[in-house]
Amino acid sequence: MTFQRALLVAGKGGVGKTTLAILLAFHWVRAGKEVGLLDANLSSPDVPVLLGLESQGIEGLMEGIEPAEPMEGLKVVSMGLFLHRPSTPVTWRGPIRHGVLRQFLQKTRWGKLDLLVVDLPPGIGEELLSLVHLLRDKARGLLVATDERLSQLELKRLCSFFEQARVPVVGWVQNRYSGEGEIKLPVAKIASLPSDPQLREWRGGPLKAPLSRTIEEIASHCEEAMAKTAPPVTVTARLLYNLRRG
Ligand SMILES: Nc1ncnc2c1ncn2[C@@H]1O[C@H](COP(=O)(O)OP(=O)(O)OP(=O)(O)O)[C@@H](O)[C@H]1O
Ligand SMILES: [Mg+2]
Repeated sequence: MTFQRALLVAGKGGVGKTTLAILLAFHWVRAGKEVGLLDANLSSPDVPVLLGLESQGIEGLMEGIEPAEPMEGLKVVSMGLFLHRPSTPVTWRGPIRHGVLRQFLQKTRWGKLDLLVVDLPPGIGEELLSLVHLLRDKARGLLVATDERLSQLELKRLCSFFEQARVPVVGWVQNRYSGEGEIKLPVAKIASLPSDPQLREWRGGPLKAPLSRTIEEIASHCEEAMAKTAPPVTVTARLLYNLRRG
């Protein structure tokens, strides 16, 4: 794999993971980076739909995987690029999903990337488990939640999952912020995105302020956090930490 970091965008269903993953990928490409965007949502591959990308058909999977390149500097791989119709159901069990994600990571002609942005399916599922296993210390988590109680509960589960998997979380983004009260979650909040009509029909064009500034803020926070290396947590260090805490 030709990249140092993969940012896994995770959260409950419908909170805005795909939207945020695409917004960040476009931001980094416009800032001059080479970015890969992996749509890891194998059964509901929404990235090509939102970006208006045509299917290449299953033939595209035969000899190495050719990513779509909607703009210079951005390479996109999604199950949706290989389905003849976006409405085709993908009903594979776990081991096949794992194999497909491994192929997407290893067989795609990504070229040299500065960063891979990964759009995940909702919650803690097979795809997340596979990617954490395949990406190991390259992986970082970015969490998304709305003001809804259940999306925050899912975020807490994901925080604990990432902690157990020893994947550092760069922070969380509050999407569709209603302006009511401060929410305390076990990881630092990066920014709040309001509900914005620009995002409903957005296909990658430039955004108006203040939304554009918030995306910039989120992107630079993620960059800083991803530049840090994760502290090695050995079993002994974990034991000592727990003993000290009593
Ligand atoms: N801040 C926002 N303002 C307005 N519309 C938004 C905002 N964030 C997301 N949306 C819209 O909400 C819908 C759901 O967003 P999105 O598909 O990104 O969520 P998701 O978490 O990826 O969903 P899934 O779990 O199904 O993959 C989309 O139609 C998107 O355009
Ligand atoms: Mg999605």
